[in-house]
Amino acid sequence: MNVLPRSVADLTDDELLALYADGVPDGPWLRVNFVTTLDGSASAGGRTADLGGDDDLRVFDLLRRTADVVLVAAGTVRDEEYGPMVLHDADVEWRREHGMSDHPVFAIVTGSAGLDPSSRVFTAAPVRPIVLTSTSGAASDRGRALAEVADVVACGDDSVDVAAVVRALGDRGLDRIHCEGGPSFFGALIAADRVDELTLTVDPSLEGGEGPRIATGSSPELRRMRPAHVLLGADGVLLTRYVRS
Ligand SMILES: NC(=O)c1ccc[n+]([C@@H]2O[C@H](COP(=O)([O-])OP(=O)(O)OC[C@H]3O[C@@H](n4cnc5c(N)ncnc54)[C@H](OP(=O)(O)O)[C@@H]3O)[C@@H](O)[C@H]2O)c1
Repeated sequence: MNVLPRSVADLTDDELLALYADGVPDGPWLRVNFVTTLDGSASAGGRTADLGGDDDLRVFDLLRRTADVVLVAAGTVRDEEYGPMVLHDADVEWRREHGMSDHPVFAIVTGSAGLDPSSRVFTAAPVRPIVLTSTSGAASDRGRALAEVADVVACGDDSVDVAAVVRALGDRGLDRIHCEGGPSFFGALIAADRVDELTLTVDPSLEGGEGPRIATGSSPELRRMRPAHVLLGADGVLLTRYVRS
């Protein structure tokens, strides 16, 4: 544990990647990434855009770089107006050098299949996205429309079973799962004890409003995590990393 934070600005991309790879096994690994304000809000004005700053964005991109799949639940895809999962040229180059596909797969979790098939998430996707939904979601008109532009996978009957989501990705060889939220889905992952790592950026701000916490829902027990590192970003942002204890 690095107690006195090193500055992100003093670290090269390779040094940062080494820090985030520490302890990650070759097999399945589920990392969740969030930003929070000091008073525990996961958003400011309903979005995360004003939180975290440039160093958070730099690490955010680096974490996508090493992922087989970027997993995001539908609420976040809609609220944050996600586009297609297209990485920057430098990330693509790095992935090619490391024998990976150019871009990670974009996997979206939705119970209702309430996603727009004409969205650029699908129409401009470099890799066919995966929609993880329920059996009823997949069988609905919306689910059938999504099947034209994505692989639609049923994970549970009337609702989405998160353990089945993780299994479905593993079955496709997508072991390095990078989850970007949001809070409801993170809560479900915690309840199902599927979280191996949390990378949490602490933005030194007080929201004082009605923003959600980073995980909502109910979990049967406290899940212990072990601190792995803390880095200092510009303007007092802290980039923390915790792994399963
Ligand atoms: N601070 C951060 O780093 C961060 C990160 C991400 C998001 N956010 C914020 O979080 C807010 C969105 O929160 P949210 O809780 O609505 O988002 P969410 O967890 O991304 O999405 C919830 C949706 O996921 C789908 N879902 C399907 N199965 C589920 C399951 N088993 N458990 C949970 N969700 C399941 C449902 O979609 P359907 O309705 O389509 O069935 C559900 O409505 C936004 O304000 C966003 O800015 C913050």
